[in-house]
Amino acid sequence: MAAVGSAVGLGNIWRFPYICGKYGGGAFLIVYLCFVFLLGSVLMMSEFVIGRRAQHTPVKAFQTLAPKHKAWGLVGLLGIIASFFILSQYLVISGWTTGYVWHAVSGTLASLGTDSGVISEFFNQFSTSTWDPIVSILIFAVLVLAVILGGVQKGIENVSKVLMPILVGLVLVLCVRSITLPGAVRGVEYLFLPDFAKLSSEGVLAALGQALFSLSVGMGVMLVYGSYIPVNDNIFKTAMWITACDTLIAVLAGLAIFPAVFSCGFEPTGGPGLVFKVLPNVFNTMGGAGTVFASLFFLLLMVAAVTSAISLLEALTAFFSEHTSTSRTVGAVLFFSVTAALGSLFSLSVGPLSHVKLAGLTLFDFVDRLNSIYLPPICALGTIIFFGWVMPEEDVRDEFSNHGTLSIPFYPILRFLARYVAPLALLIVLISGIIS
Ligand code: TRP
Repeated sequence: MAAVGSAVGLGNIWRFPYICGKYGGGAFLIVYLCFVFLLGSVLMMSEFVIGRRAQHTPVKAFQTLAPKHKAWGLVGLLGIIASFFILSQYLVISGWTTGYVWHAVSGTLASLGTDSGVISEFFNQFSTSTWDPIVSILIFAVLVLAVILGGVQKGIENVSKVLMPILVGLVLVLCVRSITLPGAVRGVEYLFLPDFAKLSSEGVLAALGQALFSLSVGMGVMLVYGSYIPVNDNIFKTAMWITACDTLIAVLAGLAIFPAVFSCGFEPTGGPGLVFKVLPNVFNTMGGAGTVFASLFFLLLMVAAVTSAISLLEALTAFFSEHTSTSRTVGAVLFFSVTAALGSLFSLSVGPLSHVKLAGLTLFDFVDRLNSIYLPPICALGTIIFFGWVMPEEDVRDEFSNHGTLSIPFYPILRFLARYVAPLALLIVLISGIIS
């Protein structure tokens, strides 16, 4: 459940719809699903296996399992660096979500009515202002810190178990409302009828990045969680469950957003603000109940973001305390302060500092690229090659079969995917994406 909490987050509800919309809808969805099930789930299993086998955090885990080739630790280090940047960026969007909880509860969102221009403008003003997003980031970050200092199991599991199912229920309600809006059918078609002419090689790379991001794999975070998995748990089943839940929620989020996008006259290519501009419109068509639904929805989205941010901070904290033998508290507070500061800077780069460019992109867009297109696929490639070719095969079998007590009929297929299909696919997508 804690791993589901890590996987299910803003990636499903905020990022999936806007990336899917940007890169063509249905065709993107198909490529995305292939990546999720053929690559993402295998990667998740590989991280679980490495983590549980080694009982260490990323760098040491690789080094323990391949004592003669210490350089593999670099893959772990790359993952930790990626987690650091992802957390910083994640805090920005989490801040927007936290801000929207307040605007929903206070009735501000409801007062905007159903004029899409007014609602968009409100989001633009909010996200480009100086202080509102930063204060929201800080409130959110303090929450995350409070949970993580409560300890791994108690804090993370309890929060995940109760609140995730409620979020799914709410997304379902939103789907029904969105699909019954006038003109909604075009949105359903956009999501489910593939038009491959719209798919570019950049879109394929984006689908890969989104699959990795959404499943929280390719960055050593699931490796850390793997080291906490009890000896008797079935790694294959656990990973398949997480993958299925995560994907279902992303598709449901798409089904909640796209019909409303077309019905309310937005563009599916609207970018990172998409969810924040479209959903208030949907809530405001619900009359008085809209405010209640909106408040509950953004609150739960915030909770989903908390459980994901926790996993990122947890990986950083565990890594840091393993290598420096300082307490978890020191590590958590340190990383929390630095990522929150960096997050605030990224937030400013959406507004007052939008003229500051790195490689022609704002800081926020730059780090978004780094986090989706470059670091995770490279780290994922390293992890899967290590899993398929470097780590001793007896260890892998032993972990999947729980020391020979479980039968593993899927193993040959999995091994084939991990040794050949996944590395080749990652390599091709990476190279073609970078060239284009
Ligand atoms: N998967 C989360 C989401 O969809 C984000 C996330 C949490 C993440 N932990 C991660 C992404 C680790 C990459 C790596 O919102």
